Amino acid sequence: KKANSTIFIIFGGTGDLTKRKIMPALYNLFLDGWLPEKFAIIGTSSTKMTDEKYKGELLASVDEFSRKGKSKKEEWSKFASNIFHQAADITDASTFKPFGDYIEKFKKDWEEQKPSIVYYCAVAPHFFCTIAHNISIAKLDNNPETARIVIEKPFGTDLESAKALNAKLLTLFQENQIYRIDHYLGKEVVQNIMAFRFANSIMEPLWNRNHIENVQISVTEQIGIGTRGKYFEQAGILRDMIQNHLLQLLCIIAMEPPISFDADEVRNRKVDILKSMRKIIPSEIDSMSARGQYGPGWIEGIKVIGYREEENVDPHSNTETFAALKLYVDNWRWQGVPFYLRTGKRLFKSASQITIQFKEIPHNIFHSDEGNSPKKNRLIISIQPDMAIQFQLQSKSPGLEMNLNSMNMIFDYSGIPKSESPEAYETLLLDIISGDQTLFMRADQVEEAWQLIMPVLNFWENSKTADFPNYPADSWGPENAEALIAQDGYHWFNLP
Ligand code: BG6
Repeated sequence: KKANSTIFIIFGGTGDLTKRKIMPALYNLFLDGWLPEKFAIIGTSSTKMTDEKYKGELLASVDEFSRKGKSKKEEWSKFASNIFHQAADITDASTFKPFGDYIEKFKKDWEEQKPSIVYYCAVAPHFFCTIAHNISIAKLDNNPETARIVIEKPFGTDLESAKALNAKLLTLFQENQIYRIDHYLGKEVVQNIMAFRFANSIMEPLWNRNHIENVQISVTEQIGIGTRGKYFEQAGILRDMIQNHLLQLLCIIAMEPPISFDADEVRNRKVDILKSMRKIIPSEIDSMSARGQYGPGWIEGIKVIGYREEENVDPHSNTETFAALKLYVDNWRWQGVPFYLRTGKRLFKSASQITIQFKEIPHNIFHSDEGNSPKKNRLIISIQPDMAIQFQLQSKSPGLEMNLNSMNMIFDYSGIPKSESPEAYETLLLDIISGDQTLFMRADQVEEAWQLIMPVLNFWENSKTADFPNYPADSWGPENAEALIAQDGYHWFNLP
């Protein structure tokens, strides 16, 4: 990937996202030689601070959060010589003037008229439009070829607000300048799904309703909501995880082969899937979904509080911390194949995993006593914490008798040290500076995803009869989530 000289202007330059994700990612890109020779990072926050103090704060967080561990002095000072701090009030365009001065200065110093300019909004979502607006009022460089604006989820809180946000942004920037991050798309194994599906000829013939019985997309987390009570009370897990991450995973599994790896080609095929999703009818929501909220419990011998006891959470809250959905893709490829989605906090294990369950063999020729009958094949895509793609196949157990056994063919990443596998933010930042939008959410993707889940959101919000809490910490979630899948004769597949 070729990266142009780049000026990053990071709004929220002292915030959590900048410290935990953006800076460690930029630093690692620098170490691995991916950043352009000429770059500048201007972090902005409301209070004045010297560049030196700012760099000191960033160094501490890079040391703590970088996958490569503690930084080396010499390398860090080379990198940090490109970092600056600029105080600004994001609600006041007159305070944006220094950014323009910086941009002009670098253009001059670098003798480069068209460096890439990345405006990164690492701030609360209600500031996205304000920032975009003030960039325009302050007449900062907004060349459609080289200026980009980066925003993070949530993109709106429902269909209407997402449409309003997109409409407003699109009056100030063109779609090809807007980089909406869904960090799941930058994960290594998630990117590999495209290669796995479209670089192997044996996949396509199997990848449809004739061979696949069901698909499960499960993102379980052991953590609770921690200090994010205020946000989570407004959001709930349907908005927080399903509207974006899980539906994007579904799109990658279900999409038709794009004709090329071009950003819009790929995203068109994903939008096709969202448009093909069977509409969720309010009267069917109870049989197509399950919701839950965690109560107190024990995790690894430590007592943990329930959701309703968390900081900034209403003690009678009806916000869901667990959600499961059964969805259908109404097209030729997937007719009749259920897609089960599940995600929740405070569950037994943290694991993001996609399971493709294949159909039973049409006729069993083996004696089937003692549980010797062939098991259905599965393809298990483990995204995290373990990274692997494995096929569960049947084979003969070595020995004199024809006894069957499940065995795994594994594409295993475990030989690759974690420190060598780029983090999602590294991939995404590199794509931003090289102008590749393939892994970013387009306006219509965001809106279609909202459209799909709106009936469930509305139904849950209007029927405040949830019997919460309904699952203890350290479990696999509420019983109704088991029932959701058991009614079809299946069960959630959990890797040991
Ligand atoms: C975020 C959600 O988008 O993704 C969080 O807001 C969630 O609630 C997180 O914990 C999970 O991301 P990851 O990369 O840790 O799986």
